[in-house]
This record gives sequence, structure tokens and C-alpha cells, in this order.
Amino acid sequence: MPLGLDGGVYIGIAYSMGYPDQDPLAWIEISLKELEDAGLRRQCRTRECSQGRMIRFGERLLLNFGSNDYLGLAADTRLIQAVSEAIHREGWGSGASPLICGRSISHAALESALARFEGTEAALVFPTGFAANSGTIAALVGPGDAVYSDKKNHASLLDGCRLSRADFRVFPHADVDTLDRLLAKPHRHRRRLVVTDGLFSMDGDLAPLDRLVEVCRRHLAMLLVDEAHATGIFGRLGRGVAEHFGVESEVQVRVGTLSKALGSVGGFVVGRRSLIEWLIHKGRPYMFSTAPPAAACCAALTALNIVKTEPHRRETVLRQSDILRKALRDDGWNVGASASQIIPIIVGSPERAVSLANALYEQGLFVPAIRPPSVPDGEACLRISVTYHHQVDDIGRLIETLRSLRGNFGTE
Ligand SMILES: Cc1ncc(COP(=O)(O)O)c(C=O)c1O
Repeated sequence: MPLGLDGGVYIGIAYSMGYPDQDPLAWIEISLKELEDAGLRRQCRTRECSQGRMIRFGERLLLNFGSNDYLGLAADTRLIQAVSEAIHREGWGSGASPLICGRSISHAALESALARFEGTEAALVFPTGFAANSGTIAALVGPGDAVYSDKKNHASLLDGCRLSRADFRVFPHADVDTLDRLLAKPHRHRRRLVVTDGLFSMDGDLAPLDRLVEVCRRHLAMLLVDEAHATGIFGRLGRGVAEHFGVESEVQVRVGTLSKALGSVGGFVVGRRSLIEWLIHKGRPYMFSTAPPAAACCAALTALNIVKTEPHRRETVLRQSDILRKALRDDGWNVGASASQIIPIIVGSPERAVSLANALYEQGLFVPAIRPPSVPDGEACLRISVTYHHQVDDIGRLIETLRSLRGNFGTE
């Protein structure tokens, strides 16, 4: 059908008359069908409860092994109290970017508390962890620079690398020797940045930060570590994987989120004062996005205090995770290199992951199936998250139920 100046009208008419090939969005339905045929179409269920040990979808009440609320703080009464007091005192919305309307006293208090908690000169709060990662990378490197990223890094790090327009190199997962060789090549880059998850969000393994810091030091490269899943869990004080390896002072840029173990929402960066000042000038998601609500900062402040005063929470999480991981390995499940509260059961194809998740669902256990692009092709898995809420019997029930399904769902 020919398009005149008012082609939009023609297209509208054509579509309503049954000519979907004239619909500029028709490709979406076709692509969704392709995703469905490949077992990759996703469904966003509606959860009818707060975060906790149990999760309700419609009529079904299930044991929840899908949450990143690792320390069980998202619905903690102390966080709820802090939030409701903050809302009455400061309202809900933040109104504008911190550079326009200023940050609230709660944002300022949280930034000071984060810097103290992490043992750094300063901290900066972003609207989300995703924004903190992508915005920080793009603020540190640009055209004429190079950025080196672990193959299994989180999407927010990858997007930051692409956004930066620096030369983008990917090194094989946790392969420090290859990174070393890449950095040793002659180059004309102005600045070089290495970025890695501290604790990998799907495999549950730790980045070899002890070796990475040495390689970065030798090649004079900056190192950014995303501690999203490790804050509150790893390290003597709960600062994350850099603390676990005793290399905090050598990781110049540490990024974290308030949305996982800290039970709130928002992201943050910690480091030296000049780095934070640079991000205030060049961190675009900080500059051009509305700040998270002050109440979210108050929840995070309360959570930080709980991390400090209740270390038994993280100890319990890691102890229960060790028990579960060992039992799964003994039963022959492929749990990869997991060394944390995140334990994948790698089954291969998306269809197998979904049918194992469905079989568990039928038995009252919620464990999400993770498919590409969240994991590489051929590595679809069930991602188990152990939290402080899980009781010994819950872990036992998961092991037993999986054991009963083992015959049908080995690794491909
Ligand atoms: C490793 C990692 N980094 C960053 C983020 C983003 O954090 P946020 O949820 O606060 O945006 C996530 C979220 O899942 C993550 O897994």
C-alpha cells in the first residue's frame, strides 16, 4: 500500500483492515513468537506478599528460593519503621536530581554512613545499582581509553562499557592470565579500566580479586568491582569480596546496591573524595535522574546498622549455603563454581530449566529458571538464593525434593 504524506494514517487504516505487514510494530509480535518457540518467552508473575521465607502467587504459597533479600531485611519491622518515620518527616518523592534541588539530610547521612561502613573517604548514592555501574564506567573512560570486562559481568557493567565508547575488550571468565596478556600489549590508550563483578550474580562464584589487583597494579589500570551481591554477606565486616580478599585499598572504585542484602532500593559508589566529586560532575545517571526517596536512604541506614550489629545473619546465610551446595554436589547436580549464597543448578537448555522449575513449583518450592540472555547459551539453570529466613528444614526439603527429581533432570 503506497504511503502519502499522511502515511501514518494509511498504516493505521491498513492495520485495522487486516494488513499487519503494514504495521511498523508488527515485528514485535513475530519476535515474541520466536522467543516463545525458543523457550525464552518470560512471564512476570504477580506476587501477593512481601519479601520473605514464603512467596504467594495466586492460590499457591511456596518456599521462596528466588529472592536477593539475603539478610531478610526487606520486610524487617525496623526498616518499615524507619521508612514510615522518614515519609512523615520528608515526604515520599525526591522531586529532582540532587544537583537541582539538593540532596536530603537522609541522603547525606547515608553517604557518610556508607563511607564509614566501607572505610573510604566518600560515597555517592545513585537511583539504582544499574545506574551506579553504567554511569560510573562511562564517567571514568571514554573515546581514546580502553575498558576490560569479565565475560560473565552483569548487564549494567556491560552496558556501561558500551556506553563509554572506550575500546571494549572482554576477557574469559575469571581468566587473570588472559587479562594480563591483554594489558601487556603495546597500546596508545589514555586510561585503562578493568571491571568485574565481585560475586557473580548467576554463577555465585567470587572474582579472583587477589590476583586481579596485582595485574591491575602492574599495568597501571584502574579497577572497578561491583559488590552488588556481596555487600552485607562477604568479608569480616560485611563489606564484600574485596574485604574477603583483604584488597580493599587496591580496588579504586567499589560499586554496590542498596537493593539486595540491604533490603532497600538505590545504588552507591565508594572511594576517594576526588572520585566521588568527579562522579557528581560526570556520572550522568546521578546528574540527570531523580534521587531515590529519602525514605529508601533511611531504610538502608537502618540496614547498615543491622549488618554491623547482627553479624550472625551473614554467618547463617553462608553456613546454610555451604550445607546446601555440598548436598547438591553429592547428589550429582552441576552447581558450577558457586562459593556463596547464590547456587545455580546448571541443566543446559532453557526448556529443561523451565520444566525443573515447574516440577519444583508443583512441590511448593519457588526456584527461578534463568535462561539466556541472563546466562550464556547452553548454561540455563535454576538459581537458588539462600537467605537468612531459610530454616534448616527448608534447606532439607529443597535437597530432598531435588533428589526425587534427579533421575529426570541431570546435566545435558
Ligand atoms: C551484579 C549486579 N550488579 C548490579 C545490579 C543492579 O542493581 P539494582 O537492582 O540496584 O539496579 C544487579 C541487579 O540484579 C546485579 O545482579
